[in-house]
Amino acid sequence: MMTIADLRLNYTRASFSEDDADFDPISLFSLWFQNALDAKVIEPNAMTLATATATGIPSARIILLKAFDDRGFVFFTNYESRKGQELSENPRAALLFFWPELERQVRVEGIVTKCSREDSVSYFHSRPIGSQLGALASEQSQIIPNRDAIEEALKLLEEKYQDFEIPCPDNWGGYQLAPTLFEFWQGRPNRLHDRIQFRNEHGKWLRDRLAP
Ligand SMILES: Cc1cc2nc3c(=O)[nH]c(=O)nc-3n(C[C@H](O)[C@H](O)[C@H](O)COP(=O)(O)O)c2cc1C
Repeated sequence: MMTIADLRLNYTRASFSEDDADFDPISLFSLWFQNALDAKVIEPNAMTLATATATGIPSARIILLKAFDDRGFVFFTNYESRKGQELSENPRAALLFFWPELERQVRVEGIVTKCSREDSVSYFHSRPIGSQLGALASEQSQIIPNRDAIEEALKLLEEKYQDFEIPCPDNWGGYQLAPTLFEFWQGRPNRLHDRIQFRNEHGKWLRDRLAP
């Protein structure tokens, strides 16, 4: 039987150089995201969000990217969840995309702020009804007695809002991570991968190659 220690792939698919990178990490991210869509990566907008408490105790989970532009990377969640509490005491966070079909990862680090209530409410109402009710039913990250408790809460809400618009909970909404650092990683043979980093200093993006 194969042991975990024997599991390894050699990455041979592509290379990535300064010539491909340009000096604008947002347009490079846009290109790589399109490549992930074209390659039919499953959930290309799934990303790890790493947060930490004020004293630096870290935590990470997968969430979905919902938009990005020059201002930042937008995601939606419960503001009172574990991540929400950590972001309220420490707005520094990191995002990580892994697109195995392309042998690529992208790191993004920066400062998180809440989206406007207007944007959160507007996105909330664009979600399927079931997801809207789910957000109302779940006090995300709290301990609950059992599965039935949440199913029961959902059932009551389904009845309550059968003929009414579902209100976006006050504790639910978007965050935007304004990037200060990007790293684009392309797997290469013999673990000698290509890594190009962009650091924002005084509004300008500085580009460096990192050792693999
Ligand atoms: C593919 C995938 C997408 C997810 N997307 C979201 C999301 O967009 N927002 C969210 O709050 N949780 C999302 N989750 C659930 C989170 O991983 C996590 O369980 C939840 O947000 C609670 O995290 P916390 O207790 O650390 O705050 C997703 C999970 C997976 C596997």
